[in-house]
Amino acid sequence: MENKPYLDDSWMAEQILRHGDSTSIGEANGIPARTIRRYLKRFRDRQAQLSILNMETQYPIAPMAEELVLTGNGVVSSDWHLPLTDYKLAARLVQTAIDHGLTDWLLIVGDYFNLDAMSRFDEKQESAGLSVELAAAGQLLELLLEVFGTIYITKGNHDWRFLGKLGFKLKFEKSIKMLLPDIPDEKMERIIVTTYDYVRIETPSGPWHCAHTSQYSKIPMSVPRELCDIYGMHVAGAHRHHHGITTSKGGYMAVELGGLFDPDKAHYLKQYTNTFPKWTPGWMLLYEGMPYLPMLSPVPPFAS
Ligand SMILES: [Fe+2]
Ligand SMILES: [Fe+2]
Repeated sequence: MENKPYLDDSWMAEQILRHGDSTSIGEANGIPARTIRRYLKRFRDRQAQLSILNMETQYPIAPMAEELVLTGNGVVSSDWHLPLTDYKLAARLVQTAIDHGLTDWLLIVGDYFNLDAMSRFDEKQESAGLSVELAAAGQLLELLLEVFGTIYITKGNHDWRFLGKLGFKLKFEKSIKMLLPDIPDEKMERIIVTTYDYVRIETPSGPWHCAHTSQYSKIPMSVPRELCDIYGMHVAGAHRHHHGITTSKGGYMAVELGGLFDPDKAHYLKQYTNTFPKWTPGWMLLYEGMPYLPMLSPVPPFAS
């Protein structure tokens, strides 16, 4: 090092400050300019790398919100589309939950709200207007809280219409709570809203990914089946309003959740001729990691 001072970065930095270019540094120190040029290049390469590493602290990105992870047994539902809801079916969901002792939690995998009032469609369904929707949505959640310990809600494309109207300037959780102003705080504490369109459930049969995906397909089961093998776990999907169960190529269980909607109340389905597949209602009971679909087959009693 003694006779090769240019190996030392602090020496090189000082020389640049003092003399500027490689010729001047060489002359001042009795070292050939081409030697200085070579080591100056290496010095600058190292400085660039250090600067790149420093960008990590220069441009910090906040950590992502934590994923919601559930455990135990409960009811997995979706697509209630308040106020275009089939309340008879909702009452039946509650009954099956009580009958099978699955009242610890109710999961709503998106589209709890319909928020037609905030859609881009001009023609609105008068009897399903915003004031009716918000009153019904709040009332139903309070009634469901009489039965279930906790209600978990994920993001559905209909639910974040309000957030869109607010220019996405709030957290999703806050926007949902703004839509439910009449629910008292002590009850609201038992409604947990996630910013994601999914919730994970850890079960004895492996994890379940329950998601209100933005993907649509007319072919029932195709989206959840594909998701199973991408995520490497069982999937319960919402959004398409299909209902059924199958297995994926990789051997995971794939469920289309259906929904608690009432297609006969959805004005736009009747108003416009369309090629949508028939909406199929349904929901899922999850017991020890196994799915049960009461709309498709009778559910046996579970061991208590
Ligand atoms: Fe939906
Ligand atoms: Fe949806």
